[in-house]
Amino acid sequence: MSKPWNTEGRSAGDLLVELEKLKSSDIEWKNGKSFCLSYYGGDDVYPMLEKANAMFMSENALNPTAFKSLRKMENDVVSMLRDLLGSGPENRGTMTTGGTESILMVVKAAREWASSALPRLPKGTKPKMILPTTAHPAFDKAAHYFGVEMCKIPVSGQSFRPDPEDYKKNICERTILLVASAPSYPHGVVDPVEQVAALAAKNKILCHVDACIGGLVLGFWREAGLKVPGFDLKVPGVTSISVDLHKYGFCPKGASVVLYKNGKLRRKQFFCCTGWEGGVYISTTVLGSKSGGPIAAAWACLQYFGKDGYVQKFNLVHELTCRFLERIEATEGVYSITKEVESSILAIASKELDIYKVADRMQDKGWTFDRNTTPPSIHLSVMPVHAVSIGLFFTDLVDSITLARKEDSSGKKILGAIANAAIKLTPKSIIQKVARSQTKALGDSSERTETASIYGMMGTLEKKGALGEVALDILDNFYDQ
Ligand SMILES: Cc1ncc(COP(=O)(O)O)c(C=O)c1O
Repeated sequence: MSKPWNTEGRSAGDLLVELEKLKSSDIEWKNGKSFCLSYYGGDDVYPMLEKANAMFMSENALNPTAFKSLRKMENDVVSMLRDLLGSGPENRGTMTTGGTESILMVVKAAREWASSALPRLPKGTKPKMILPTTAHPAFDKAAHYFGVEMCKIPVSGQSFRPDPEDYKKNICERTILLVASAPSYPHGVVDPVEQVAALAAKNKILCHVDACIGGLVLGFWREAGLKVPGFDLKVPGVTSISVDLHKYGFCPKGASVVLYKNGKLRRKQFFCCTGWEGGVYISTTVLGSKSGGPIAAAWACLQYFGKDGYVQKFNLVHELTCRFLERIEATEGVYSITKEVESSILAIASKELDIYKVADRMQDKGWTFDRNTTPPSIHLSVMPVHAVSIGLFFTDLVDSITLARKEDSSGKKILGAIANAAIKLTPKSIIQKVARSQTKALGDSSERTETASIYGMMGTLEKKGALGEVALDILDNFYDQ
């Protein structure tokens, strides 16, 4: 539905009331019922973050000479991250607006680096990066934007980790970058960073560790004396690492850090245009103008907690993740796909039930989480706020399992078979139809959640290209103006 302009301006009070009303249709994330998307640092820090964000919301980090305050804060934040995850004073970094932007910058830097450092790259060919299928789609986005070829290697069905041998087998004269996650988002396992980085060093190519979700957790677990595998710039051969502050740093959205082994490499991510009528234009990251709000809030947040505050928070996260794991294993009908706590992420699967139906019934009860496809499972990013909700979670899980047992799971198989058959005949029409029905199912706040059929169907589709079209159509339908 289109919205007409109001001719006369509206009062601030009226608008704020309407904004609150709009907010009421969103998921609840401060009460421990969400396991993704928003990460709550607590009532004590939140008002300060709102204030810091607002204080710098219109200051522009594009120009470090105009806004010296932001330049200082960004340097301070990068320096603190280097202290935690770096290998020495030669490391250099940048704040970006999120994990995706950090990863875009790493792939762009690798491409620029390759053009000067890899003269053996045959002319007219695409540089290649090797990454596991569990690596975040931000790498696919970067490959798409920057014309880098992706070579995806599988992960083991037991450990959910890639085999270093598979990286080795696929390295060729065009390979510029090896990617590992610490941990991967779907399964929460730390890839074999030490072996992958050693391979990169041996072949004189780059190695990035995506620690967007878990870098702070692992870094502070190590500080707390817990056993953590090598995952950061201290590992020989790792040339860059990305860490999001707006996830487990509990900072407002729009804050991540990408750290490089040295300034020479970081320089490859920068951009400069000297031929513009408006003067010399330089920028460090993808964005041009960018709000100073997230930078100021991150600067304040890191210092508000300090090392001790984060260690305390992540000790709680460790204890909670262990409790979640234990209780999942003790719940009839489901199991945890990993048997040890490697990070703050777990996934719940089932051998006998349609786990997506369990997820739907949980969603009816107000819970929010992502759904993994391999194996079909419920993703949990465990946060401090789950200390208040863990009891209710398991009561509702048992209840949802009972409800899911009563449902017939044959529907998804039939829908999958129909979709596969129809896609072969009339791809576009079936795709649009499925997309329309799913836009409604995913976007409406209906009484009952029904995503199990679409998730089940996605798993059975033979042509994943068709699945991409469904997803893009859904996006088109969501943003229909
Ligand atoms: C491992 C990992 N990398 C990258 C990203 C992308 O981060 P963002 O959504 O902040 O762009 C995520 C997001 O969940 C992630 O978990």
